[in-house]
Amino acid sequence: MTDARRDAPRTRLLLVGGWPAIVEKALRAADEVVLFHGNPTEIDPALQDACRIVQPIDTQDETTCIQRARTLHRTHPFTGVIAVRDVDCMAAAGIRDALGIAGNSRASVSLTRNKISMRRALSNGPLDTVAWAAAYDRAEVRAAVARLCAASGKPVIVKPASGRGSLNVRLVSRENVEAVLATHTDAGLADGLIVERFVEGAEYSVETLSLNGHHHLLGVTEKLNPPRAPYFVEEGHLFPARLTDTVLVDIRARVFRLLDTLGITQGLCHTEIKVDEGIAHLIETHARPAGDRIWRLMELALGIDPIEIGFTALVGRPASLPETVPAVRLAAIGYVCGDGGRVSTASVDSSIHEIPGLVESRLLFQSGAMAPPTQDSYSRHAFVIITNARECALRDNLETALSRIKVLCTPVPSAVVAQRPLPPQTENARK
Ligand SMILES: Nc1ncnc2c1ncn2[C@@H]1O[C@H](COP(=O)(O)OP(=O)(O)OP(=O)(O)O)[C@@H](O)[C@H]1O
Ligand SMILES: [Mg+2]
Repeated sequence: MTDARRDAPRTRLLLVGGWPAIVEKALRAADEVVLFHGNPTEIDPALQDACRIVQPIDTQDETTCIQRARTLHRTHPFTGVIAVRDVDCMAAAGIRDALGIAGNSRASVSLTRNKISMRRALSNGPLDTVAWAAAYDRAEVRAAVARLCAASGKPVIVKPASGRGSLNVRLVSRENVEAVLATHTDAGLADGLIVERFVEGAEYSVETLSLNGHHHLLGVTEKLNPPRAPYFVEEGHLFPARLTDTVLVDIRARVFRLLDTLGITQGLCHTEIKVDEGIAHLIETHARPAGDRIWRLMELALGIDPIEIGFTALVGRPASLPETVPAVRLAAIGYVCGDGGRVSTASVDSSIHEIPGLVESRLLFQSGAMAPPTQDSYSRHAFVIITNARECALRDNLETALSRIKVLCTPVPSAVVAQRPLPPQTENARK
């Protein structure tokens, strides 16, 4: 064997997008990491240096990413490819198909990226428990709302088929359908809206890790102050949720069936459900780690690093998990939400550090900034992460910690804060 052959890395992971903590995990999991990133300046220079190649590239441009990956693959063959944010997932899946390397297939990932495609894939099977209709213009939305409202006798959910961050998710009846339609452009409608029966019950997300086609249930996350009309914003999460064994067994079976139906074989998935009278109904799924730092709650609660374990298995290194992964403590995140305006006060009382189990508290808008009203995941104002071995103490401490954060805003004309483009997937609303 030549020296060059002997020194060649055994595993090379192509990471599409991500943030510093994810790059660190990739570097621990594979011999070499190549990073495709839309804005590598977000990644610390030392981490960039540790990567074999850092390629500035528009990770939402799947074709260009595939071309670049193909060229690099000739000289730097990749073992596997992965992404952890919604916006990067299609490029990673396209590269996987084009190069024939380890990763989730384009067909699977595209089913998770479009809620209409996902519901269609589940049609007439045991997971088809929520009446729905696809709509691509105003007339179709009106007809679907009228039909599904009549069938359930209640308002229905209308949301973008490829939405994220609870943007434009609305509870709609025949009375407010025109007002909701007025908020959509024709082009937006042409991308597809999905109209769904409103599912009652408590809301959870199910965090799974698939290692070479074998699924593991890492735990179920409770959505605190459950998302509700008018904007269905997520205000907090607690991991792991306390559920009866019967419900857990049902959730596990349904979500594993979902992953098999969609063809997911690798990595973390985040599946949102509502549990009504003991039955889990699917809301949506994502072939990536949970957003809102739930991935961090899992690390704190489980004492393992599921993302790193997923990366390790992807590149073919030994990685395994027991069938059940017990939590050693609980962890929760709570968000501060508000009506928005010019921020007059943004402060975290220093006494917050006396709260047992405090992991992090962070202001997302500083004094003087314009904070939007909280209407989606991108417009929350601050957050706190906390751990505890006891659930009661965790909930109490979370409430106390949130009360020690102040983001006070002076109202301004709504047009000033309402006109904002679709936000990027920043550190603070990672989806
Ligand atoms: N059919 C439904 N019945 C009841 N509630 C629903 C339904 N669909 C969506 N919701 C509510 O709206 C919220 C946002 O919907 P969904 O998760 O599908 O959109 P999203 O924009 O992809 O969300 P995110 O990216 O924040 O997870 C859900 O968490 C849930 O509270
Ligand atoms: Mg969701």
